[in-house]
Amino acid sequence: MSDISSASNMSSLAADLTIVREFLDRTNIPAELRVTERDALISQIKELLQTRRAKLVAHYYTDSLLQDLAEETDGFVGDSLEMARFGRDCEGEVLIVAGVKFMGESAKILSPEKTVLMPTIEATCSLDIACPIDRFSEFCNEHPDRTVVVYANTSAAVKARSDWVVTSSIALDVVDHLQANGEKILWAPDKHLGSYIQKTTGADMLLWDAACVVHEEFKSRGLTDMQQIYPNAAILAHPESPAAILDVADIVGSTTQIIKAAKNISNQEIIVATDKGIFHKLQQVAPDKKFIIAPTAGNDATCRSCAHCPWMAMNSLQGVVNSLLNFTNEIKVDDSLACRAMVPLQRMLDFANSNKLKVQGKA
Ligand code: 13P
Ligand code: SF4
Repeated sequence: MSDISSASNMSSLAADLTIVREFLDRTNIPAELRVTERDALISQIKELLQTRRAKLVAHYYTDSLLQDLAEETDGFVGDSLEMARFGRDCEGEVLIVAGVKFMGESAKILSPEKTVLMPTIEATCSLDIACPIDRFSEFCNEHPDRTVVVYANTSAAVKARSDWVVTSSIALDVVDHLQANGEKILWAPDKHLGSYIQKTTGADMLLWDAACVVHEEFKSRGLTDMQQIYPNAAILAHPESPAAILDVADIVGSTTQIIKAAKNISNQEIIVATDKGIFHKLQQVAPDKKFIIAPTAGNDATCRSCAHCPWMAMNSLQGVVNSLLNFTNEIKVDDSLACRAMVPLQRMLDFANSNKLKVQGKA
């Protein structure tokens, strides 16, 4: 019998949300630039990338200008894991990571010899915030019989306390494999992703209680209404979305899997339940299709994270310039912590290789 349960012995989710709110209150979205300012910054970045022997690595959720710039300068746009793998394998001495803090940390863990910078170090993730190492460690200690599997959206310290790190593109395969070995799992931090994996694999999973502030906003009622307007549209959803969304989705997958599906699916209209930063790449890979953002709980000012991650939005052209010019916002991970965090990360990479799975982040 599989057993799905929430971490009921943890402090309440309300306490976590208070901390998340504090971080959200500190976010500040860069102001719109005039075209001349924008073009001047782009030229300056191109020059700095060369003189600093640096590569720009951007996530699909960041500003389209940063994504284009990364590709034009032989950098990289992709999901969190592939960003780190590109960083590890590329020739530059400096990586400038446009994304959120855990991505900078993963890049540093996989590339200890490189200088890893970020346009802002204030950019974090509600999943990372809601899974502090001290409480997480206690939770693990209370369940020593369970294999600890954590999502990549966690701090280096949480990774170091785990047996496996997974991204959304490989989580199902890893849990399937562990279940076949008869292992019981302690999963953190995303409860929706954990619950989706549990339902799909039937594994015995104990779940941490945290969620992504962006995906949590997608609402099934609005989605049903939207389906009346677009009856022929396919629904593609990221597994950080609530179960009611995943239940009606045609395809559930990571950012990379969503982009691939959008290209291959025959539907001309596609409703997408993930951060709208991904629309830039979606429109590039399938220019003739119509992409529609799935409905969220609030609108404009009433919604803090209407399908766009407030932390991803903090990455700006000006931030890239400042960081490259002055080597500010450098990501450092303590050596011994990095060594310990590398073990579960490497386990995932080896698993992907030995199973001929493509844990790919480039669509
Ligand atoms: P990926 O691992 O697909 O890049 O997703 C990261 C993320 O933060 C999704 O919200
Ligand atoms: Fe974290 Fe959600 Fe932002 Fe992704 S979109 S970085 S999971 S808060």
